[in-house]
Amino acid sequence: MKLAIVGVTGIVGETILRVLDERAIPVDELGAFASRERSEPLEFRGKKVPIRAATAAALASGKYDVVFFASSDDASGELAQPVLDSGAKVIDNSSSFRMAPGVPLVIPEVNAHAVEAHHNLFPVANCTAIVLVMGIAPIHRAVGLGAVHAATYQAVSGAGRAGLDALAAEEQAALGGGANGSVKSPFVAPIFRNVVPQIGSFDEFGDTGEEKKVAAETRKMLEAPDLHVAVTTVRVPVRAAHSIAAFIETSSDTSVDELARAYDGAPGTVFHRDGIVTPREVEGQDVIHVARLRAEEGSKRHFQLWAVGDQLRKGAATNGVQILELLLERGYVGRGEQARA
Ligand SMILES: NC(=O)c1ccc[n+]([C@@H]2O[C@H](COP(=O)([O-])OP(=O)(O)OC[C@H]3O[C@@H](n4cnc5c(N)ncnc54)[C@H](OP(=O)(O)O)[C@@H]3O)[C@@H](O)[C@H]2O)c1
Repeated sequence: MKLAIVGVTGIVGETILRVLDERAIPVDELGAFASRERSEPLEFRGKKVPIRAATAAALASGKYDVVFFASSDDASGELAQPVLDSGAKVIDNSSSFRMAPGVPLVIPEVNAHAVEAHHNLFPVANCTAIVLVMGIAPIHRAVGLGAVHAATYQAVSGAGRAGLDALAAEEQAALGGGANGSVKSPFVAPIFRNVVPQIGSFDEFGDTGEEKKVAAETRKMLEAPDLHVAVTTVRVPVRAAHSIAAFIETSSDTSVDELARAYDGAPGTVFHRDGIVTPREVEGQDVIHVARLRAEEGSKRHFQLWAVGDQLRKGAATNGVQILELLLERGYVGRGEQARA
């Protein structure tokens, strides 16, 4: 398989490379692209791969079977179509196409059935939406959801390498007594020793872009267009892994025991009946952890839970690679190659 990554120098791109390797995905030829060419190649499975500037011509002429985008909304908006026109499947981490009608938004453990043979474009959902949906899908399947409210605690790496650099620079300045230097923060307020209740810009109702994405994408992936989802998204000074406190209303009367049983055998999810789970412990993992499931004051319809997951892996890279695995299993990758030959 000929595979390319646009955004290979970023933290999601880097993680995609690692996950491809860990999961032994067969790659005969790798194309590595970023916003600009680099003098130093990257190394993948013992081979040196040049990093080139991502252009429509370079991507289309590569005749790739699959192209991952891990760059930006602008880059995907400009380059995905020429890549699709060249016959490749696109797995896109940007938000550009997630809500487009007819485009599947897939978490393989939740809605793999949404992938059909004629689909070529596969957006990877918002990383917080993936952690939330993985955490509540077993309950939705078991008893149905009537409403979901959530407050999030999102790691700085969710804002890319710039987010990690900003936390490190602020930390160094505060603890070492130095200045922040020239690091430009992607956050709207200091992040070290702080929490910032704004991710994205506000709309006329006071919701942020991140909050609207999480709500809309959750409804799409759960195939519940009328589900009430309300979210407050918050950035916290954690390096990796997003946490969510979710407050859910079920469609029918149930109990904590019945809901706990819904997690038995739920793929990709680890359920903790007791105790807590913190983002530090789950960094580097592909599974989503659910803990603190409880009823609100004895209610049979209102429950709370805590979900945590590494957003760089399951929230981005791993979910994308799992989509590729699904396409390979079903024989949907490679036929374009024959058609082009
Ligand atoms: N970080 C997360 O947790 C996360 C989770 C889910 C989805 N995502 C999405 O994944 C994508 C990548 O995020 P990231 O966190 O990896 O960001 P990042 O660390 O800032 O990396 C961005 C990457 O995109 C490249 N890039 C930027 N503009 C480009 C352009 N016009 N053409 C080609 N390449 C371009 C950069 O190349 P240079 O090095 O040359 O600038 C770099 O390789 C974004 O769409 C983001 O929204 C991120």
